[in-house]
Amino acid sequence: MGLLQEKLSKFRLPQMYMEKGVYPYFREIDSHQDTEVMMDGKKVLMFGSNSYMGLTYDQRIIDAAIAATRKYGTGCAGSRLLNGTLDIHVQLEKELAEFIGKDEALCFSTGFTVNEGVIPQLVGRGDYIICDDRDHASIVDGRRLTFATQLKYKHNDMEALEKELQKCEPDAIKLIVVDSVFSMEGDLANLPEIIRLKKKYNATVYVDEAHGVGVFGRNGRGVCDHFGLTDEVDIIMGTFSKSLASIGGFVAADKDIINWLRHNARSYIFQASSTPAATAAAIEALHILQTEPERQENLWKITNYALKRFRECGFEIGDTESPIIPLYVRDTDKTFLVTKMAFDEGVFINPVIPPACAPQDTLVRFALMATHTKEQIDYAIDKLLKCFKELEIIK
Ligand SMILES: Cc1ncc(COP(=O)(O)O)c(C=O)c1O
Repeated sequence: MGLLQEKLSKFRLPQMYMEKGVYPYFREIDSHQDTEVMMDGKKVLMFGSNSYMGLTYDQRIIDAAIAATRKYGTGCAGSRLLNGTLDIHVQLEKELAEFIGKDEALCFSTGFTVNEGVIPQLVGRGDYIICDDRDHASIVDGRRLTFATQLKYKHNDMEALEKELQKCEPDAIKLIVVDSVFSMEGDLANLPEIIRLKKKYNATVYVDEAHGVGVFGRNGRGVCDHFGLTDEVDIIMGTFSKSLASIGGFVAADKDIINWLRHNARSYIFQASSTPAATAAAIEALHILQTEPERQENLWKITNYALKRFRECGFEIGDTESPIIPLYVRDTDKTFLVTKMAFDEGVFINPVIPPACAPQDTLVRFALMATHTKEQIDYAIDKLLKCFKELEIIK
C-alpha cells in the first residue's frame, strides 16, 4: 500500500456513523424539488434547502432553461475570456449590475469560485485581508490564496475588528470580507458598524450576499440594500444556487474593479462559463424576484411565525434574523441522531458539525422557502420537539 493510501485508509469516521445507522449525508432525492420531496419511496418535508424563494421547480424557469438549451446547446466548451461568452451571459451581467446597484457585474460558473477567484486578485503582498471567523469556506479558500497578511476577528465582534484594523499599516490596502447572512447561524453582519470602521480606517469592504439576495432588501436586493449601504460597500458577490434557482455566481462593483477582475480573476478566465440552461434559469428567476414581491413577503411571514414557535417551544436558536434557523444541539453524536430521528418522522434538516461550526456549537439547520405552509412548519416543529425531548436536548 502506498503512503497516501495507508494514511487515507485510516479515515473511518463516516463508516463509524454508517455502522451506527445515523450517517446523514448524500441522501438521494428522486422527485422534483419543492417543500415536499420523495426520498427512497418516502415523502419527506424539505427544510434543508437554500431555495428561499421556492423557485427550483417553477415552470417558467424550467421552460427558460429548456429553450436556452435548444438554442445554444448543453455547454459552452470554453471560458468567458475566449469562446465561452454568450449574449445571455452578458444580459445577465447587465441585469444583475442594475439590480444590485453597481456599475457592472461578472458572472461565474459557481458562487464558490467567485470568492475563490476574486479575493486573491484584490489584495496581495503588503496588503491586508480581514475576515469574520465564521465566513464561508469559499471566502476562507480565497483568503488562503492571497499573499496579503491574513487577519481574523471573532464573529461579529466589532471591537475585535477595530483592533485588527489598528494593526494594519495606515497606507496599505485593507480588505474586510464578510457574509451578509451567516449561512449556518442565520445572523447578519453588522454592516452599519463595518462601514463606519471602513471610513475611519480607509478600508475596502467585500460582502457575500449568497443568503441575502432574494431574502433581504427591496425585491430581494440583499442585506446591503436592506441597510441602505450598497454605495458604501465596495464589492458585492452573490450566488444563483439559492434564491435564483440555478447554479452560478456573480460579483458586482465599480467599473475599474470589474475591469481588473474581468482580465485577472483566475476562475473567470480559466474556468468554462456556465451552461446556457443555468444562465437562462438565473435570468428568469431574477425577473420573477422583481415581479412577484409576494414571495419575499410570504417568506418573512412564515419565518417570523417559525421563529416565534421555535422560541416558545424552548429551542435554542441563537441570534438568527433570517429564514435560516439554527437549532443548537451542542453534541455531534446527538446532532446526527436527531437528524436521523427527524428524517424517520418525515422531516429533512441538515446537521452542522465542525468545520462548519465550532465543536461546542453543533446544530441542525432548519431553512424555510417562500412556498412552505404554516401546516408544514407546525408538523415539522412538533416532530422536532418530540425528537429533541427524547434526546434530552430540550429538557
Ligand atoms: C455564504 C456563501 N458563499 C458562497 C457560497 C458558494 O456558493 P455556491 O454553492 O452557489 O457555489 C455559499 C454556498 O453555500 C455560501 O453559503
